[in-house]
Amino acid sequence: MYEINDKLLDEYDYSTDPVLQKHLHAWDRVLIGAIMSYAPITGFGKQMMAHQNRTGHDGANFLRFLGFSKQAAGNFRASMLFHDMGKTHSSYNPTIWSLTNRPTPEEKALQKRHARLGADMFEAFCKKTPALLDHPHFKVRHAVTLYHHERIDRAGPEGTVAARLPVFAQISCIIDAYDGDMIKRPHQERGRTPLEAVHRLAGIGETDGKYTGAFSPSLIGRYLEFKEQQIKDNETWHPYVMKEEDALPTAHFELEND
Ligand SMILES: [Fe+2]
Ligand SMILES: [Fe+2]
Repeated sequence: MYEINDKLLDEYDYSTDPVLQKHLHAWDRVLIGAIMSYAPITGFGKQMMAHQNRTGHDGANFLRFLGFSKQAAGNFRASMLFHDMGKTHSSYNPTIWSLTNRPTPEEKALQKRHARLGADMFEAFCKKTPALLDHPHFKVRHAVTLYHHERIDRAGPEGTVAARLPVFAQISCIIDAYDGDMIKRPHQERGRTPLEAVHRLAGIGETDGKYTGAFSPSLIGRYLEFKEQQIKDNETWHPYVMKEEDALPTAHFELEND
């Protein structure tokens, strides 16, 4: 296993790095196309790409809020754009996300298998090119893909103590849960609002306790601060809606606090 830390995010620039330009950019564009056209009848691939894109933006803005560099934020975003790709693995049944009941623990475990599948898919691709396997982007993206459902109480699919993961990997868990909680599921009457979603993560108000012990209290406190500010600043705030051209990891995008 390789070592991961937050400094990796400052060791390269996804958009201009020559190794990534040569060996990864074209494949990533193909991958985005493949994800968006996956299961088109249900719209599954497009919805998934929109979620990956929203979380990428949200995470990049949150990293800037915490003081990370613009380059670090951009590299994190490029990794988040693929974090759920395991859902397109041939052995994965995407209908596990369309249950009309609240998922049982067994169904939840099946849902979360995509984290390991996606990390394995990315690793298998990078193994063909040693320059990619040695690159810090491999570590960042592999970590985000594998660990984005981990919890500090070890309740995630890998059983990792998430508090030992770098901040960027813990952020992938928080922003993924936040965005996922706003998506309306068939067993709900309506999706949650941004404030309801962030309060649920932070265990504020009436809560079902789903996230008790899940995230670092200090990090979730900062995220709450970040979201409350964002919601206050945008009275007509609505979730980021993806424009297709924004899906490319090299696409220029404006960070909120630049
Ligand atoms: Fe996921
Ligand atoms: Fe996700």
